[in-house]
Amino acid sequence: MRKPLVAGNWKMHGSRSENAALVRSLMDQLRPEWRAEVLVCPPFPYLWETGRQLNDSGIGLGGQSLCAEPQGAFTGEVSAAMLRDVGCSHVIVGHSERRQLFGETDEAVARKFVAAQAQDLVPVLCLGETLEEREGDRTFEVVGRQLEAVVSVSGIKAFAAAVIAYEPVWAIGTGRNATPEQAQEVHARIRASLRALDGTIADSVRILYGGSVKAANARELFAMPDLDGGLVGGASLKADEFAQICAAAG
Ligand code: PGA
Repeated sequence: MRKPLVAGNWKMHGSRSENAALVRSLMDQLRPEWRAEVLVCPPFPYLWETGRQLNDSGIGLGGQSLCAEPQGAFTGEVSAAMLRDVGCSHVIVGHSERRQLFGETDEAVARKFVAAQAQDLVPVLCLGETLEEREGDRTFEVVGRQLEAVVSVSGIKAFAAAVIAYEPVWAIGTGRNATPEQAQEVHARIRASLRALDGTIADSVRILYGGSVKAANARELFAMPDLDGGLVGGASLKADEFAQICAAAG
């Protein structure tokens, strides 16, 4: 049985005071009896302080990206070991904004995935097609290629300690979520392609859905058999809304 995971991707939002208020309200609202694991991913400068505030709340801390190199002259970059050092357990890898706006290739994403695991961080590997690719009936080709690029470098066993997030690009920040059936179809295909390599991994790996998840649609999305939680952007910045999403998952 896969335990659901709800991860909040704060993107480039917040401030020390806003984050503190958000986390306080979240800690007030989350209930230990909910079955879902919860994770927040603040911008780099706030990781340490947010982690301190989360303390032993049970809410995990993740980075939004990382450098594939372990250390050195890479101005502006942050390593896996640094994320670990400030208390992260997870890191988002290959988010579509990184791929589209910052030129991260499939190969770069694969290297980051491996670098994260080398420091015992759980990578949350994002996969997803653009609207043009979906309309061109290329969804499975694109998502399959993005997944294969990582598996071919990391090996299938690495997915025992990884999370996948299917995030159709056309659904991110647009208010237009994939329907539960559309999401389920892709999740099932992702799981099937893992199953062809390793049945145990396929059954145990969590596949989150991301793209305009809100309190209003979370329950029906999470009811799908191959959806194991969500990667939530905009709605993770509102404590009430995010707590309701966590309740829907748990
Ligand atoms: P959204 O973002 O929930 O605001 O659509 C999701 C994501 O980019 O991870």
